[in-house]
Amino acid sequence: MSTVIPSLSNTVAGIQFSSVLLNASGAFNAHLFNELYPLKEAMGGIVTKTVTQQPLAGNLQPRTVELPGIGMLNSIGLQNPGLIYSLEKDIPALKALGLPVILSISAHSSLEFAQMAEYAFSHPNGSLIEALELNLSCPNVEKGGVHFGSAQDSVREALQAVTSVCNKPVFAKLTPNVGDIVAIGGAAIEGGAAGLTAINTVLGAAIDIQRRKPIMPRVSAGYSGPGIKPIAIHAIWNLRKHFPETPIMGVGGVSSAEDVLEFLMAGASLVQVGTICFRNPLIFKEITEALQAFCTAEHISSIAELSGCAHR
Ligand SMILES: Cc1cc2nc3c(=O)[nH]c(=O)nc-3n(C[C@H](O)[C@H](O)[C@H](O)COP(=O)(O)O)c2cc1C
Repeated sequence: MSTVIPSLSNTVAGIQFSSVLLNASGAFNAHLFNELYPLKEAMGGIVTKTVTQQPLAGNLQPRTVELPGIGMLNSIGLQNPGLIYSLEKDIPALKALGLPVILSISAHSSLEFAQMAEYAFSHPNGSLIEALELNLSCPNVEKGGVHFGSAQDSVREALQAVTSVCNKPVFAKLTPNVGDIVAIGGAAIEGGAAGLTAINTVLGAAIDIQRRKPIMPRVSAGYSGPGIKPIAIHAIWNLRKHFPETPIMGVGGVSSAEDVLEFLMAGASLVQVGTICFRNPLIFKEITEALQAFCTAEHISSIAELSGCAHR
């Protein structure tokens, strides 16, 4: 008797993802496509490293601190080669993997966000991009970033500005470093977001006890990895509860198939995997096999049916 392999696919904001698993923006090095190539069968889509209009050199070193067992701190500072380079070099290389590509962008103002979106989709390679993810939540830059994403007005305006110049779905990536993530998510939806990505890193810091000084030059950094998983699930749960029609890409501390299932059941439609990839680059394959085994054992033919099931 032949066994039917359960489907891990999902269609979100009109885009067909062959698996609910995507990478989280920035959690691979600049040559993303080289690292992703062996994993493409186990991934449903690709999110680029966040790009800005102009290239950025990023922050002073050290930029990362490992926190054994619970994750890491990073203060990369959005180092990136800029929008033009990304469109001309990275996007075609990523698209060659045969998966939907989501371009992550960050800007200092709504106008700059709109200019970037307009430029991207009028570029010959713009047709290779399936959706945008607006990074409204980077904690490691002086201007824009998390400050931008902490106020309902600026989030709403950024989404309005971008969605008025582009026909592709726009996801708003939210910061957990706010009092009320549901209010910010609501503002993004009012501005026209097709979906929400939750969450970016949690603000954190570490002290070098020999030097008796903060380890990171900017003191604050973004905390990611297993320790932030409950914060992400709490955000996903509440966003799904208040906005049941809006798809959510869940992200934050995922390191196993069980974590992916929790994210889906809490309300995510897709799940991004980040920090764990530094420790185990093959994690996508392992999670895929374990998800298929779970679905088979539970007689689930399509994993998409689990999305939000814990609310019902
Ligand atoms: C080294 C590093 C770089 C990151 N760069 C970006 C980025 O460029 N844009 C972005 O939206 N998020 C960035 N993030 C945040 C991740 O996409 C993700 O939201 C966060 O790390 C939580 O997921 P995780 O715990 O699975 O890593 C970065 C995270 C890390 C660890």
